[in-house]
Amino acid sequence: IKSVGIWGAGKYVPEKILTNEELEKMVDTNDEWITSRTGMKERRIAADHEATSDLAYQAAKQAIERAGIQAEDLDLIVVATITPDMNFPSTACLLQDRLGAKKAAAYDIAAACSGFIYALANASNFIAMGIYKHVLVVGAETLSKITDYTDRNTCILFGDGAGAVVLGEVAADRGFKSFELGSDGSGGELLKVSAGGSRMPASTATIEEKKHYIYMEGREVFKFAVRIMGSAAERVLEKAGMSKEDVDLLVPHQANIRIIQAAIERLNLPKEKSVVNIQKYGNTSAASIPLALAEAYEEGRVKEGDCLVLVGFGGGLTWASSVLVW
Ligand code: ACO
Repeated sequence: IKSVGIWGAGKYVPEKILTNEELEKMVDTNDEWITSRTGMKERRIAADHEATSDLAYQAAKQAIERAGIQAEDLDLIVVATITPDMNFPSTACLLQDRLGAKKAAAYDIAAACSGFIYALANASNFIAMGIYKHVLVVGAETLSKITDYTDRNTCILFGDGAGAVVLGEVAADRGFKSFELGSDGSGGELLKVSAGGSRMPASTATIEEKKHYIYMEGREVFKFAVRIMGSAAERVLEKAGMSKEDVDLLVPHQANIRIIQAAIERLNLPKEKSVVNIQKYGNTSAASIPLALAEAYEEGRVKEGDCLVLVGFGGGLTWASSVLVW
């Protein structure tokens, strides 16, 4: 079994910024409410012509460059997203073509906001087993395309973006040390897009009833998130044989600053040991963790040998965590 780590990380966000002040003009809300309840100030919104694979492409190019390889070297591309360009072909296949990654296999993974860590766990196995050498894992979303901008319960939360990493073999003392993936499908109703699948195919009625937009029971999701973020982080540290004191950087899913704070407290971490960029990007679902990771890297916040804990939760319900020695 080989040790697997990150060779390079990249990110991309669309240019257009949607501020709290602009949201005030769209729905009955205000900057003070959004800031105090969520920690968000602004989020990025994809242009009409921009789809998820476009964001994924930019983040992937940067990750590949930083890894010091060529797209032709990739053996596999895995994209985590709940906003694929279309139902099929997969966004990963669209990306494979765009990158010119001629020898790569490609598929998508759907585990909502936990999707990126699910994809890491999945893809890293191919390298650990010696099947593949270079794997690209991307988290990319254009949540603005499935957000109802007349629903103040959801429209303030979501943003668009992408993050990507290239995985490869690393020295035995580095790389991913443990994963925890979990699900509780009984909570599926709390966070969903109802229509457009085989249960409720798209029709004039589904459009009129706004069933193609995100539906969320925020308070219930919040309670689940506070409980699971801390416990999933604790358990994955234990699996890696590490303790809270070993953590150099927490890279949490950016869903709500209060959820992140609860996780920080549970792990007894000083605030500086957590990545927080929610004020700039809002919740970008599967893109949130790789976006935070790439940004932390760019800011020089991760050094070789640092112990990182990645942790997220999302629709499904799902959760996922990992310990990574950089
Ligand atoms: N502006 C002003 N008031 C608002 C807004 C808004 N944008 N949205 C809701 N309110 C109102 C509500 O109507 C409610 O009013 P009421 O008491 O008269 O009914 C009041 O504010 C308080 O609502 P709560 O739901 O109690 O607010 P809460 O403190 O729970 O915060 C929030 C709401 C921010 C949505 C929070 O519950 C949360 O972050 N939940 C988790 C969401 C999440 O992480 N989702 C993950 C998505 S991940 C994925 O897989 C895509």
